[in-house]
Amino acid sequence: MSEPQAIDEILASFHAEAGAVSSRADYERLKGKYVNREHGLVPGLFARLKTLSGAEKAGFGKRANEAKKEIEAALAGLESQVRAAETAARQSQERVDVTLPGRVRPRGALHPLTAVRRQIEGVFVRLGFSIADGPELETDFYNFAALNFPPDHPARDTQDTLLVSAGSPGAPEYLLRTHTSPVQVRALLAHGAPIRVVCPGRVYRKDEVDATHSPVFHQIEGLVVDRGITMGHLKGTIEAFLRGLFGAETRVRFTCSYFPFVEPGAQAAMTCFLCRGAGCRTCKGSGWIEILGAGMVHPNVLRQCGVDPEVYSGFAFGTGVDRLAFLKYGVPDLRLFFENDLRFLEQFG
Ligand code: DAH
Repeated sequence: MSEPQAIDEILASFHAEAGAVSSRADYERLKGKYVNREHGLVPGLFARLKTLSGAEKAGFGKRANEAKKEIEAALAGLESQVRAAETAARQSQERVDVTLPGRVRPRGALHPLTAVRRQIEGVFVRLGFSIADGPELETDFYNFAALNFPPDHPARDTQDTLLVSAGSPGAPEYLLRTHTSPVQVRALLAHGAPIRVVCPGRVYRKDEVDATHSPVFHQIEGLVVDRGITMGHLKGTIEAFLRGLFGAETRVRFTCSYFPFVEPGAQAAMTCFLCRGAGCRTCKGSGWIEILGAGMVHPNVLRQCGVDPEVYSGFAFGTGVDRLAFLKYGVPDLRLFFENDLRFLEQFG
């Protein structure tokens, strides 16, 4: 075969094979076969130059150079075609269908007791109260003695109070607080007067579980001590509280009551939010619902907390959060609040 013919054949076979390239591997194979420095057909052409005579050399060299350029240009074109095809393939695989519906995640909600506690806190924070808390494991001093309970008061009875013994003889005895009132003592001892706090928390009593009783329940305590605090402040605050929770038309009634840590002591009832006072099952026909204990802080309590009762006076109140939630949502059984059955809880979402 004459030398120029060899060049034409190489070009022809290159173009034929180039037409069949459909992947990067094809492309790499083609490139190796024609332009690889060691064994490629095009570099091979130049190797032949030294076997040619001077006259042939010039013509062949020129044709070989042209063929080399043609093949290199074609390879460059093929390379970009291969790259474009790869990109298109990747993009079609990675495509996101933005019209697909999203994954639905179940939404959580506040437990009804938490929701009511926060509503109550909200009412008091708007009235300028701070929120305080204290330990659930208490000593006799905070739970009883500092609150003016005489040593033989029936509330100290172990029938009601859950005692926690530290074990070793002579070790201090603890109890599970039976009310949130010990936080009054702690807050006053820590901050002194004047003070305006509410103290929500969990409390414990040795009660059998039934539809309206639980050995663990929740209370919220309120305490205001300042110069010139009167029963009028107490009544106004309780009215604002119950109206904030049950509606502006709620009316509040105070009757005399007794708690060792207040003098005078009172019991507050509100008009039934269901029958508006007409009498129904919820209010047992009376039109009123007993809702909280309250009173003017006993001078002995102020004194125990280092506050001079000649200068300061105050009021306090305490109420059950579970009972308020029970009434507000018309829940038929207190146990539902503690069982955490999602079918019940989801209704408050
Ligand atoms: N601690 C009382 C109880 O658990 C409730 C109570 C009554 C709290 C009168 C008070 C109060 O602050 O003044 O039954």
